[in-house]
Amino acid sequence: MDSLELSGPVRERVRSARRVVVFSGAGVSRESGLDTFRGAGGLWERMRPEELATPEAFRADPAKVWRWYAWRWRQASEALPNPAHHAVARLETVFPSYMVVVTQNVDGLHQRAGSRHLLELHGTILRAFCNRCGRTQDMGEAIAGSPEEPPVCSCGGRFRPAVVWFGESLPEDTLAEACEAASSCDLFLSVGTSSTVYPAAGLIELAHRAGACLIEVNPEPTPFSGLMDLRLAAPAGEVLPALADAMERSRCPST
Ligand code: APR
Repeated sequence: MDSLELSGPVRERVRSARRVVVFSGAGVSRESGLDTFRGAGGLWERMRPEELATPEAFRADPAKVWRWYAWRWRQASEALPNPAHHAVARLETVFPSYMVVVTQNVDGLHQRAGSRHLLELHGTILRAFCNRCGRTQDMGEAIAGSPEEPPVCSCGGRFRPAVVWFGESLPEDTLAEACEAASSCDLFLSVGTSSTVYPAAGLIELAHRAGACLIEVNPEPTPFSGLMDLRLAAPAGEVLPALADAMERSRCPST
């Protein structure tokens, strides 16, 4: 996308914003070659989450779950951040007073693009932990040591990917900080998420209730599209660099 101009009210809200939340989902990594979960070609269109991403699935067939996450780890490791990730990282300098990236993604691409203030609501695929003593290790090393099934810990437990599975609670401190940020922000940018998985999607409601300016970037509509002050129905990698430019311009007094 060449350039993008923000309209009066949104431009004014962006110009005066002091506390900013960027909320991201799988769509932000689509242009890095990683699958989304829902929608055309999504992982859950082809695979059954109850057989791969639940504690019950890990108990029933640990090797199957481990191999699947090893496959996803390889994909995430071979992927590169795309212009959307880089634009998000850049926004930290556009909004120096306070900006946090709250992501549902476990792929580590926001960090690799340079985002520093990051909350990973659904954990990370880059680490593994023992399901009995909690000891952690690098996922790549765990897979190298045991590609076909989850490594056994010295305590007798099994290592599993450090992601949040369906039916599990989100990391308490991370969720609390994300809720605090959404409830006190004045600009909330939602990128590449279907906004259907809770409690994460509840952050949009918190930001709305806080009176924040809401912006959504997603080629497809979501259940919250009607609440948005600005909706950009385009791929994040195409539109976020232009949006970051427009935001930067709106914050320079001369323009
Ligand atoms: N740019 C922006 N958005 C995109 C792009 C793109 N290039 N490509 C697809 N999308 C949008 C889709 O339209 C969809 O609305 O990204 C969204 C991806 O939605 P989901 O696949 O549901 O992913 P997400 O919202 O992150 O899922 C939430 O569900 O399966 C669990 O734990 C998993 O964190 C995940 C959670």
